[in-house]
Amino acid sequence: MTNLPPKPVAPPPIDEPTPLLGGLSPQAFMRRHWQKKPLLIRQAVPGVRAPIERAELFALAEQEDVESRLIVQPQVGGAAVAGKRGQGPQGWSLQHGPLARRSLPPLKQPGWTLLVQGLDLHVPAATELLQRFRFVPDARLDDLMISWASDQGGVGPHYDSYDVFLLQVQGRRRWRIGRLHDDRLQPDVPLKILSHFEPEQEWVLEPGDMLYLPPMWAHDGIAEGECMTCSIGFRVPEATELAREVLIRFAEELDGDGPRRLYKDPGQLATATPGLIPEGLEAFAAQAIERLLKDPQGLRSALGEILTEPKPRVWFEAGEPLPDGVGVQLDPRTRMVYDGQRVFANGESWRTAGRDARHLRTLADQRWLDAATVSKASPALRELLDQWAEDGWLHPAR
Ligand code: SIN
Ligand code: CO
Repeated sequence: MTNLPPKPVAPPPIDEPTPLLGGLSPQAFMRRHWQKKPLLIRQAVPGVRAPIERAELFALAEQEDVESRLIVQPQVGGAAVAGKRGQGPQGWSLQHGPLARRSLPPLKQPGWTLLVQGLDLHVPAATELLQRFRFVPDARLDDLMISWASDQGGVGPHYDSYDVFLLQVQGRRRWRIGRLHDDRLQPDVPLKILSHFEPEQEWVLEPGDMLYLPPMWAHDGIAEGECMTCSIGFRVPEATELAREVLIRFAEELDGDGPRRLYKDPGQLATATPGLIPEGLEAFAAQAIERLLKDPQGLRSALGEILTEPKPRVWFEAGEPLPDGVGVQLDPRTRMVYDGQRVFANGESWRTAGRDARHLRTLADQRWLDAATVSKASPALRELLDQWAEDGWLHPAR
């Protein structure tokens, strides 16, 4: 397996009907279905090939830097795996990777599934597949997960707080979906499995077929014979969680920036009620927070940095400064976005303006820049690109 980035693919045209979305244009799909209602697409990717072979997938699950899970349903799989770590009374067992090949059940044993997260970070064909979905902002993209299931394998009826495209890439899987009327989960199970799943629709997906599901739709996919499914997942920020992350990041950046503002209470009188919080201290805390909120630029910087923060297991291999006369392409692991004033990459931000800003935005949108653009780059932009090349964030374009 090679780690060379795949040839860059231009983002899909947003107004052209495409088989990927069942003959809708990306624009029409976003208007009619995105975050609104599911869509089953027969032959979304005709002639699709699994981005990875089964044996390679099992090998990937052995790696420390790859997030993987093994889910076994012993009542389907038989007594052979009874007593495994993480097994709940309902019979489901969950094991987190790295997973040695010998710890996987036999292929012939029904009812088990191996899930590997972030395939796009490791497998060029998966990175390429993901490019087709770049009609959705990168800020929303999470990753491409792949699952391999033995006959009858699945993860049980559940819901995700994600938008997801479930693309069947090998074998057949029966999907049942329904609105989420009751979000209660089965107790004492190591997975989040709904206890009252009410399916409304059911389809068997063949290779190339795809199902789009908005967040909070209940679904259950059961393999019919061994199969592989790709999940292209889009993260959906939760308000309180995002506020916490943005405020922490912003506050860290302000730390040490300018004079420290200490609370002052020279007017504090002697108190007979020492347990009572002084009103002045409450006001001071409120003002400190208001001060943060009055700086939208600072908040935007913090947001962009959070959105591009590499995932925990991601690391970059150091590279060389760029040779002359080459274009550049971003490493598949690099996350890059921009706003009106700044560009963000891998958790850092730069203020940019003028021509450099235009080139950097093109780099973010296309994930590559041609040799002519790089050769005409300003010294500041060239220095930045060289630095990113040395950090392994981008590479000479093929
Ligand atoms: C799977 O591929 O088995 C599960 C994907 C999902 O339901 O989110
Ligand atoms: Co799901």
